Amino acid sequence: MAARDAAWEALRDEFALPPASMENLRQLFLTEARAGLAGSDSSLRMLPTYLTRRVTGEETGEYFALDLGGTHFRVLQLRLEGGGRIGPVRQRQFKVPDAAKRGSGAELFGFLADCVSAFVAAECGGEAAGDIGFTFSFPAAQTAIDAGTLVAWNKGFAAADAIGADVVALLQAQLEARGLKMRVTALANDTVGTMAAAAYSCPGTAMGVIFGTGTNAAYVEQAAKIGKGRGVEDGSRETEMAINTEWGNLDTAAVRNEHDAAVDAASENPGLQRFEKMVSGMYLGELLRTALAAPAVRAGFSRTCAAGFDAAFSERFSLHTSTLAAIEADATPDLAEVAHLLAEAGVQGTLADRSLLRDACAAVSTRAALLAAVGIASLLELAQSEPGPATVAVDGTVFERYPGFQARMEGGLEMLLGPERARDVSLVLTKDGSGVGAAIIAAAAAQARGETQ
Ligand code: BGC
Repeated sequence: MAARDAAWEALRDEFALPPASMENLRQLFLTEARAGLAGSDSSLRMLPTYLTRRVTGEETGEYFALDLGGTHFRVLQLRLEGGGRIGPVRQRQFKVPDAAKRGSGAELFGFLADCVSAFVAAECGGEAAGDIGFTFSFPAAQTAIDAGTLVAWNKGFAAADAIGADVVALLQAQLEARGLKMRVTALANDTVGTMAAAAYSCPGTAMGVIFGTGTNAAYVEQAAKIGKGRGVEDGSRETEMAINTEWGNLDTAAVRNEHDAAVDAASENPGLQRFEKMVSGMYLGELLRTALAAPAVRAGFSRTCAAGFDAAFSERFSLHTSTLAAIEADATPDLAEVAHLLAEAGVQGTLADRSLLRDACAAVSTRAALLAAVGIASLLELAQSEPGPATVAVDGTVFERYPGFQARMEGGLEMLLGPERARDVSLVLTKDGSGVGAAIIAAAAAQARGETQ
């Protein structure tokens, strides 16, 4: 029993995020965000998006949207009807093969164009023309609404020669090579797309946030607060612009533990996306896997169970965040579902083992939810000129499916903002909004060019 208690204490202490640490991180977030906005060195890139119009819900027309996120690529065709209404959406989803993720830029964007060809053949009788909104869920330094160079890959992508290239030009070239007569007229991060999709029916939406494979957020900033040369020029009539914060890269050195450091060091992008590596779906399972292998934690499990973990979870990323979610969802008194999950992985655990495992999952996921709350509370301070009701559009599997994630996050918001202000924040699930949002942004771009459908 003593070893079990010691293991639990180690986990609890390592993954604790006391209110004072949350507050310090919020202060750091604000300092970094202001530096990023000004164009100074900062872990928060605060990327301009060139989206300078608020979505009103009156954007109309027929559009395509392409959505490259983490594991999947989606092709959509839809009609924006105005009045906040969207007609039926035709869509197909394709799994992105590892070879395309890690090959050359031409291979990856060629694969995307092949998917578009397949969609056009199956859904549009082989012929299609029109504007495309392209959701690209990686950091891109935009120079226009329809141009942006890739800053860095993450979430397991590594087509190295694409870094520094304009991703719209890469995609357009591959579409043309296949004789497709569509034109990419808008580039949007998934957070910006999610914000636009929510704003289509709820125009006051304050920000778009993703807690999925990766994590990030976007909001609308006043032009006067964005540094010169970052999208809003002197004498311009623009008063505001959506900003892609890329908060996944926030410097979390002050709150990270030895397991975070190990996961980061073994990753494809060490030193980068450190907030993401503590919060998002790609990493929570890997964090727990790393923690379970630490001697002080391992000693808390029975010998058979610990040996089972060694055998079942020896490979990086072999313990998935969805398994942690299933473990925490088990409400049976003898943790029968956990026993079943472990048996499937070839692991045998006593009830004490199963209960320690569930507590370990909760330690990792609770800290993630509290960090998520720090992100939202910090950004709210920038997004709102004065306290008041705020709609936050949120998407991503961790937010949607991880048991208790939203409630723990709301608890964190209450700690940071106080109960009254926390009650003003509505976290609204905006499912699959990123693709639809890119189509809305393409429509807003067409309006800005004076072309209305
Ligand atoms: C990317 C962001 C993206 C987020 C959520 C992060 O890894 O850097 O651009 O918005 O994942 O998909």
